[in-house]
Amino acid sequence: MLRAVVVTGTLLLGAGAVMAQQEIAVQQDNLMRAQAKSVYDVMLKMVKGKTPYNQAAVDDAIKELEESVPRIPTVFATNPKQDVVNATYGSSQKIWQNKADFDSKVPPVVKAIAEVKGKIKDKASLKVAYDSINGRCNDCHETYRLKLK
Ligand code: HEC
Repeated sequence: MLRAVVVTGTLLLGAGAVMAQQEIAVQQDNLMRAQAKSVYDVMLKMVKGKTPYNQAAVDDAIKELEESVPRIPTVFATNPKQDVVNATYGSSQKIWQNKADFDSKVPPVVKAIAEVKGKIKDKASLKVAYDSINGRCNDCHETYRLKLK
């Protein structure tokens, strides 16, 4: 009886740890999704003419990126050792084998954002900003993001 209780308790603890790990993976993914919203849903769609140019939306997107990109090193501090359930993209384990190099991919994104801030006035300047920011996002993805499906 006691043994059954101990075994059940251990299983529950195990399940709790799995939940916490999944929660970390979800937080990391949510941060990426927020940035993707600014870069792809707002900026890229306007660059492609899928949505009309909207200065307020552009300014909000830049503000969101300014706030959220510097948080990448902290949000990715812990290795969740698992992917978000059903995710299309996952984190490479290389991140936590080489965290300093991973973190070094963030300042160039911050710099690209700072360089275009206040200079986006129309579709042409938005395209320049998009290319510059997205290029730096991809410099990290090339090494540290895995396509899962
Ligand atoms: C320092 C590295 C790094 C930088 C910089 C970075 N990302 Fe990511 N990104 C990742 C990793 C790792 C993943 C995979 C794990 C995940 O989704 O959390 C990812 C995943 C993504 C995904 C896929 C999310 C999904 O699950 O469908 C998108 C979209 C994305 N990033 C957009 C961006 C955008 C836009 C920027 C630039 C503003 C950016 N990322 C900057 C590391 C980075």
